[in-house]
Amino acid sequence: MTKVVPADASAILEAARILRRGGLVAFPTETVYGLGADAENEPALRALFAAKGRPADHPVIMHLADASQVENYAADIPAEGRKLAAAFWPGPMTLVLRRNNRVSNLVTGGLDTVGLRVPVHPVAQALLREFAGPIAAPSANRFGRVSCTRAEHVLQELDGLIDLILDGGECEVGLESTIIDLSRREPAILRPGAVTADMITNVLGHAPSGHSIASPRVSGSLPSHYAPTARVEIVTADQIRSRSNELRASGQKIAIVTQLPHHLADINDEIQVLLLPDAPEKLAHDLYAVLRRVDDLGCDIALVTLPAEHGLGWAIVDRLRRAAGPRGDDSP
Ligand code: TXA
Ligand code: MG
Repeated sequence: MTKVVPADASAILEAARILRRGGLVAFPTETVYGLGADAENEPALRALFAAKGRPADHPVIMHLADASQVENYAADIPAEGRKLAAAFWPGPMTLVLRRNNRVSNLVTGGLDTVGLRVPVHPVAQALLREFAGPIAAPSANRFGRVSCTRAEHVLQELDGLIDLILDGGECEVGLESTIIDLSRREPAILRPGAVTADMITNVLGHAPSGHSIASPRVSGSLPSHYAPTARVEIVTADQIRSRSNELRASGQKIAIVTQLPHHLADINDEIQVLLLPDAPEKLAHDLYAVLRRVDDLGCDIALVTLPAEHGLGWAIVDRLRRAAGPRGDDSP
């Protein structure tokens, strides 16, 4: 049985005890909920991969209470890493650094690098400090599915598979952390997030190189990821009406997910319309809950229009394109 408890002081103590004995605890971060295990306990890490249904060669992010602990796990910290850490930690950023041999191969998926993150969420901070060690935590969802931004979503995904869910309410950012790879010659954004390319450029004094070297080991770069059960199709505003009529004629239950209400006149009222907010921060915050709603409504397909791609919009468009990506045999 999976317990869901408000993330108060006694729940934090219990969560740390569970981690110490090799159990699995979901906890809120400012980005999305994480599924935590003791990063130095190999049986716990194996249980973590099993609960997520995630292939063993996919690396997971190691969460630390503060930036000073990075030296315990990184082989070296380039000057750019120190600048980025000073600017954005604690916060929604993960740095990929060359690792030392204290880091388990299960955490890194056998790579010679490790992804490190110092979250700012008070519950994540309290848990890391109480546990007093690194916590390996992928997003708290089954592999390939939409990340969770509320405790109830984690329960839907992982009920019976993990020990405890710390309920800390809704995650503020709503999208996973920005991942910056500093293990190569040039800093590269592997996954866009709330720490935007412009913010990184301001700190480094030059632009990081473009995004997603499509290594299948970075699960966020697999074609279909962050996906609801319903199919997702990207459309332009002009296509909304014709495409939804076409799909309706073939008997499918349709959701339209858009920021563009003025393109919805004359839409058939059997079609579910889910309006997205205009402000990018609000849209990022709501996005995964809206994708889950598409499934809860029993829709076969969601027709989605994309917001503008600059700033945080890059991360939003990235996730929507992945949700719409081709599904492999093992997709949900
Ligand atoms: O916001 C987040 O980052 C959340 C919260 C819980 O911290 N975590 C998260 O973890 O999204 P996950 O495992 O779902 O996604 C982490 C991504 C994966 O695509 C993984 O392959 C990549 O980070 N990653 C981890 N370590 C890496 C490494 N050494 N090199 C390249 N990619 C790495
Ligand atoms: Mg994930």
